[in-house]
Amino acid sequence: MNIILLGPPGAGKGTQAKKIAAKYSLPHISTGDMFRETAASGSELGKQLQSYMSAGKLVPDELVIAAVKERLLKKDCAAGFLLDGFPRTLPQAAALDKALAEAGKKIEKVISLTVDEEEIVKRLSSRRVCLSCGATYNLAGQMPAKEGVCDTCSGKVIQRADDNENTIRKRMSVYREQTSPLIKYYTDNRVLREVNGMLSVEEVFKKICEAIQG
Ligand code: AP5
Repeated sequence: MNIILLGPPGAGKGTQAKKIAAKYSLPHISTGDMFRETAASGSELGKQLQSYMSAGKLVPDELVIAAVKERLLKKDCAAGFLLDGFPRTLPQAAALDKALAEAGKKIEKVISLTVDEEEIVKRLSSRRVCLSCGATYNLAGQMPAKEGVCDTCSGKVIQRADDNENTIRKRMSVYREQTSPLIKYYTDNRVLREVNGMLSVEEVFKKICEAIQG
């Protein structure tokens, strides 16, 4: 099963991806997580990636496509994978289709999460994440028991550099201009399923599972 989770920043892709990956035993491939990991290494490439992310801009297609192609060649992707945050542009989608076709594979489902812009700003401004394990918290009620310390791994819990209102709105406009054309692309390919991301986490998950199995 080869699945893509599509949606604006803060739509709940990461939250749902963890649940889908666990239920269907799929590797969860998040380009955002991959780039933040490289950025944390402090390498030259990492510094470049961080500058795009902090500005709310997309990382150039050539870099993203090369990184994902390499990741998809790993053994754990042989029986399927879940892509979160990739593709984000039409050239990325075309490159993915080409690479999969060469391997005799294709995308079976694209789950598109829809969420209102004001809800996105609210969610992302109050999001906190663990630097070590990526666990997600929210000032709106779901915070670690000890301030700044992850419940799961005792790692440091921080606010992402791109989770301030200005950058969130910039990310939204990048999504509208560069990523939303993928909705038509995958609708034309007859693999798109839209899910209302405004519902509770459990309700969204239930609808995603129905879409995957339907
Ligand atoms: P990335 O890390 O992919 O960020 P994003 O797409 O902006 O998405 P987020 O991680 O912010 O949100 P999410 O949808 O995962 O929501 P979450 O589940 O955390 O990318 C970061 C950057 O990397 C990009 O800006 C770009 O620079 C670069 N990049 C990455 N991929 C790239 C690509 N392919 N090409 C070029 N550049 C690329 O949820 C958000 C919050 O809401 C959380 O607090 C959560 O608890 C809460 N929440 C989730 N679901 C619900 C719900 N149902 N109800 C209420 N609250 C909820």
